[in-house]
Amino acid sequence: MSPEVALASVSGLALVLGLWLLREYQYGKKYRLPPQVPGVPLFGNSFQIPALQQGPWAKDLAAKYGEMFTCKFGANTWVFLNSSRVVNDLLERRAAIYASRPPFPMTQGIMSGESRIVLMPYNERWRMLRKIMHQILSSRQQDIFKPFQDLESKNLCWDYLQTPDRWWSANARYANSVIMSVVFGRRSMLDDPDVIELFETLELFLENQQPGVNIVDAFPILDKLPKVLQWWRPRGQRIFEQTVNVYKRELDRMEEKMANGTQRECFGTDFIKTEEVKNMTEVQKLFVFGTLMEAGSDTSRVTLGQIIAGAATYPDWVSRARAQLDEVCGNNAERLPQWEDREKLNYISAVVKEGFRWRPNIAEIGAPTMLTRDDEYEGYRFPAGTVFTWNAWAIALNPGEYEEPERFWPERFLNGQEENALKGHWAFGPGRRVCVGWKVGEMNVWIAIARLLYCFDFEEIPGKPIDTMSIPQLTKHTAPFDVKVTPRSVKHEELIRRDCAYAAEVRY
Ligand code: HEM
Ligand SMILES: *[C@@H]1O[C@H](CO)[C@@H](O)[C@H](O)[C@H]1NC(C)=O
Ligand SMILES: *[C@@H]1O[C@H](CO)[C@@H](O)[C@H](O)[C@H]1NC(C)=O
Ligand SMILES: *[C@@H]1O[C@H](CO)[C@@H](O)[C@H](O)[C@H]1NC(C)=O
Repeated sequence: MSPEVALASVSGLALVLGLWLLREYQYGKKYRLPPQVPGVPLFGNSFQIPALQQGPWAKDLAAKYGEMFTCKFGANTWVFLNSSRVVNDLLERRAAIYASRPPFPMTQGIMSGESRIVLMPYNERWRMLRKIMHQILSSRQQDIFKPFQDLESKNLCWDYLQTPDRWWSANARYANSVIMSVVFGRRSMLDDPDVIELFETLELFLENQQPGVNIVDAFPILDKLPKVLQWWRPRGQRIFEQTVNVYKRELDRMEEKMANGTQRECFGTDFIKTEEVKNMTEVQKLFVFGTLMEAGSDTSRVTLGQIIAGAATYPDWVSRARAQLDEVCGNNAERLPQWEDREKLNYISAVVKEGFRWRPNIAEIGAPTMLTRDDEYEGYRFPAGTVFTWNAWAIALNPGEYEEPERFWPERFLNGQEENALKGHWAFGPGRRVCVGWKVGEMNVWIAIARLLYCFDFEEIPGKPIDTMSIPQLTKHTAPFDVKVTPRSVKHEELIRRDCAYAAEVRY
């Protein structure tokens, strides 16, 4: 560290310390927060929260501190909500004031050029972008997605047959290819280097997004230091450029194909002609595409992995799923499950919901939203700017909320609400920031898992049991766990050869 940087850091920290003391004092008088987890001065609980797999950590705190508790991550105060009751009361019923995001000068400011939708404050710009996303992703668009999900899930079965030990890469390709087809009118292939790079930049973002990783996100006031003194800035800038390049390569390819007449019509070709785009900066435009690619790929891939882990570790439900699949599609591999079977395959819909609940691995401690004005609740007084999150892992694994919560047990969702994918768990988040792609995500998982369960067996490998409580979230192209994948029978193998082989040959 150069002397200037050292000096600036010291004065920056002195300033922060002063403001912190002042705020602590004012807070104490005017506000009342839920029990606070003890931490160190200034940094609060930043050094306690693990960098990854925060779910079990926050669940232990919930057991100790109760239905609501408070953590400090630098200057940010987080209230964890540890029951569906309080999540409903605050994040759902009072969504209008609980829907903003705290400032993230590093991950949103520098790394995303202020343009990542998921981190935007609750404002006009977010509303405009959310509307655009909703137009592509809402349930009204099901018919656009279904043919792509049909083709890509056949390709998925084919990949599982050809390279069963690469099942997780096949899941990534599948989820990515569905969204690429809709957004860019092109498919992605197994081991596509562009897809690998996309997942790399996404993992970089997710790593940096964890509380405590970036000092300036913990103390947003440090963003006011002169830029040359912000030692984190060059690193953030490099990630920004790498990320934007990944997005831009796709958009450039599409524009070249439009110019030479080989581009298929798709969301992208419509989108770049709209009025909204004319008002957008280049970076904002790229982040619309980038968000669709990233959010659209990673989440479905992870959920498929979770259900496979659930099948290998709690095989009893698989036979009940098979009984229904066999009844509808034939018990001798007569045909693949189809979209048209959905009404008769309510067990599969319950499997998908249980997959979302079981180990909420995508957002283990939920996603932070920020209160936009002072609020009171059950004797507490929260100041505007308080950050709230649903304690996903603690809620999903609380026996008070779910009977035998650790068990993968689809029957818990056989309650007439099988088709309402949002109800009964928090995997897509609550309130106004609820996942805008939930319908597409749910459909992605539904058709894929129906076909995989019909065609393949999933078993734990002797000596390599799956630890379902610590399945890694960021995997760097390696398997998140070991599992043996084999076709159910020779007949099922023949069905895949007959119905799915062509899918791997289709090119656009
Ligand atoms: C398949 C499973 C999926 C899961 C479990 C999931 C989960 C989530 C969660 C937990 C959030 C944060 C909610 C909050 O802050 O309260 C979110 C936000 C978001 N998701 Fe998803 N998601 C999935 C699929 C998708 C898909 C397929 C897309 C798009 C193609 C998508 C696009 C988005 C976007 C754009 C946001 C930000 C919304 C906002 O901040 O207003 N997601 N998702
Ligand atoms: C909070 O979470 C813990 C751990 O999951 C659970 O045992 C406890 O019952 C929860 N408390 C409330 C009041 O929700
Ligand atoms: C059109 O452009 C794309 C993208 O640059 C390129 O891959 C493709 O080969 C081109 N096709 C023709 C017919 O020029
Ligand atoms: C574009 O920006 C102008 C000026 O800020 C505004 O009047 C107009 O409504 C915007 N158009 C769209 C489609 O957002």
